[in-house]
Amino acid sequence: MDHFSYRDRSLFCEDVPVAELAERYGTPLYIYSEATLLHHLKQIQTAFVSADPIICYSVKANGNLSLCRLMGRHGAGFDVTSGGEFFRAQKAGPAGAKIVFAGVGKTDAEIRYALENDVFLFDVESEQELHTIGAIAKEMGRKAAVALRVNPDLPPKTHVKTDTSVKGVKFGLDIETVVDVAKGVVCHPGLAVVGLHMHLGSPILKAEPYRLGGEKAVKLIAAFRSQGHDIRYLNMGGGFGINYRKDEALPASAFADVILPAVKETGCQLVLEPGRFIVGNAAILLSRVLYTKSTGGKHYVIQDAAMNDLIRPTLYGSFHRVWPAALPPGLPERPEVDMTVDTDTGNPFVPTPGTFRQDVVGPVCESGDFLAKDRPLPTLTRGDLLAVFSAGAYGMAMSSNYNSRLRAAEVLVTGRTHRLIRRRETFRDLVACEEDCLT
Ligand code: LLP
Repeated sequence: MDHFSYRDRSLFCEDVPVAELAERYGTPLYIYSEATLLHHLKQIQTAFVSADPIICYSVKANGNLSLCRLMGRHGAGFDVTSGGEFFRAQKAGPAGAKIVFAGVGKTDAEIRYALENDVFLFDVESEQELHTIGAIAKEMGRKAAVALRVNPDLPPKTHVKTDTSVKGVKFGLDIETVVDVAKGVVCHPGLAVVGLHMHLGSPILKAEPYRLGGEKAVKLIAAFRSQGHDIRYLNMGGGFGINYRKDEALPASAFADVILPAVKETGCQLVLEPGRFIVGNAAILLSRVLYTKSTGGKHYVIQDAAMNDLIRPTLYGSFHRVWPAALPPGLPERPEVDMTVDTDTGNPFVPTPGTFRQDVVGPVCESGDFLAKDRPLPTLTRGDLLAVFSAGAYGMAMSSNYNSRLRAAEVLVTGRTHRLIRRRETFRDLVACEEDCLT
């Protein structure tokens, strides 16, 4: 579900035509729908309500301060993975919002900073990290609250680059040894082991892995408790999938159905770290067609967004729906999206009439710079606007200045109103960190 829809063949975000936003703010432009974002946050809050969950929005998916603030105001805490994200979460607030800190490589300075700023929980990923946090906390006269992050060793469930719970990945403590690790810190003066954490990977379109993970968590929590640890939190991470192609995302209730029994059995309070589920379908990346050309039997549409704006297609081969913001006559509002077979019927894919296959590429100087390949699209001309859907998570967050391109602006739409939540970068921004170092 999202609040991007066509009215009289023009794409709207909530009640604002996206063409109006392109005129006002330029392109490429990330356009967020507040109603979509809050709908998804609410869906999670409602589905898990019986566990009194602490929903820590995963800042890595999109750390924009205004978006984080919006979520904080609607009851979310934050999941962070660096000092920088911790800083963002604090700045977005509200004061007292719960911040969990995960990540395999927390530096001493980051650990200190988090302790000084009342981190709610560290998700601990190795034995050395556990002892380092303990030592730093002790030296500061504090007791650090930690959740041990376990790698539950489950079968592959998503892209190899983002599957974090198969054997041998860098994340978490091995399920075979985590109980011994916990034993080593019973009564540690700088540590309170109060939770168990697991994050299975992202995006995940099935509930079953969470059921399997939950079952393993129940056993581990019992083992930690028998050692004397006062385990109060079960953190099941994030990873809930969203709609990229059609309506493939599961509702939050499907995940709740399999996670809640484990929570109930342990008597723990549930912590979740959703990012993509909340913000992913809440944005499009709007771009403008610069040129079209045909070469070597291929057709290219060259538009002003590039891999530096949205790297997911290049990096993971990810699919994002791309469709014109002004629909030519005869074209449906949602195109058929699978390139080879219909995912529902298994029948060979028949391209939408009025379209032909085109690569949607950007201005960056790499052949790997594309947003879509062999995508059925209508004839496009210079100046046309294209919407790249489901771009709210890991879009702007993974953007860069590669080719010295200015990062896009971001705008938030609320009903009929809209406001800039990140201005477009300028040439000055581009060189700001180097200018003072010129000799
Ligand atoms: N918690 C931890 C410990 C994580 O590592 C992640 C994501 C999350 C929560 C949030 O997962 P989410 O609910 O957003 O799926 N750049 C990739 C995704 C990387 C995910 C990294 N960790 C992509 O564009 O697909």
